[in-house]
Amino acid sequence: MGCVPIVTLPRVGEVRLIPGDARRIGSLPDASVGLVVTSPPYPMIPQWDDLFRDLGATDYAGMHRILADAYRECHRLLVPGGLLVVNIGDALRTEGGTFRLWPNHAETLRGAEEAGFTPLPYVLWKKPTNKPNAFLGSGFLPPNAYVTLDCEFILPFRKGGLRRFPPHDAARAASRFDREERDRWFSQIWSDLRGAPQRAPHGRTGAFPAALAERLVRMFSVIGDTVLDPFAGTGTTLWAAARWRRNAVGVERDPAAFARLRETARALGYLPGAP
Ligand SMILES: C[S@@+](CC[C@H](N)C(=O)[O-])C[C@H]1O[C@@H](n2cnc3c(N)ncnc32)[C@H](O)[C@@H]1O
Repeated sequence: MGCVPIVTLPRVGEVRLIPGDARRIGSLPDASVGLVVTSPPYPMIPQWDDLFRDLGATDYAGMHRILADAYRECHRLLVPGGLLVVNIGDALRTEGGTFRLWPNHAETLRGAEEAGFTPLPYVLWKKPTNKPNAFLGSGFLPPNAYVTLDCEFILPFRKGGLRRFPPHDAARAASRFDREERDRWFSQIWSDLRGAPQRAPHGRTGAFPAALAERLVRMFSVIGDTVLDPFAGTGTTLWAAARWRRNAVGVERDPAAFARLRETARALGYLPGAP
């Protein structure tokens, strides 16, 4: 009978919460994160107007400068070859009397590249909808109707070249996905994931679905990695990472949202000393 190799996997499933600003995560050392999965506040969406104003942004370009500063901080924190994955949607809004598209995905591609990242092929997340006729514009008469904005973007970026692992790395081998998952996940249009409920007792959350975070965690990190969400919100990325045996770090600036994050982490048993 052959020997059964003893495989030691890293200690996993811890969640760390950091109150503060995604642009300066001073308590984390350089190259300490394997993957960033995040969804920032979307520029030109009214839900986030006050937040951007508090952060000093007075216009669209200023909002994207704030997000680009956060991506620069992610670049510092990622290991060589580590990925930043940003979920963002474009916005429609009237400014100066003109109704127009605000292409947040294009600004994100530009901002993350300026922050040092290499852009990679992206996913269009087409959310299944129960409202097939939510069209804007002039009904059935050309030419003044608008195409419905029913896709969001999942934009992956890499820090430097391919991430390197020792031969036969046990954690990487244990993180394998199967052929069916590979074929479905690495196709450019995802239409199998519903959006997360947005309403909560305290207002709209901007949360993405757990299945989206879990998929990205499994596609782009290995067991034992640290997965960061610098715009943690309700913590969807963090719980997904911990569930798939990664460690998680969440940064959240809003004190009320941070308090809710702590409560959830405790309830899920993810904080040290939790019952
Ligand atoms: C779109 S929500 C994230 C939702 C999250 N993906 C989820 O599933 O719950 C963006 C979050 O980023 C937080 N935020 C905004 N600006 C921030 C900053 N500069 N630093 C840290 N957090 C920030 C907001 O308070 C909000 O909770």
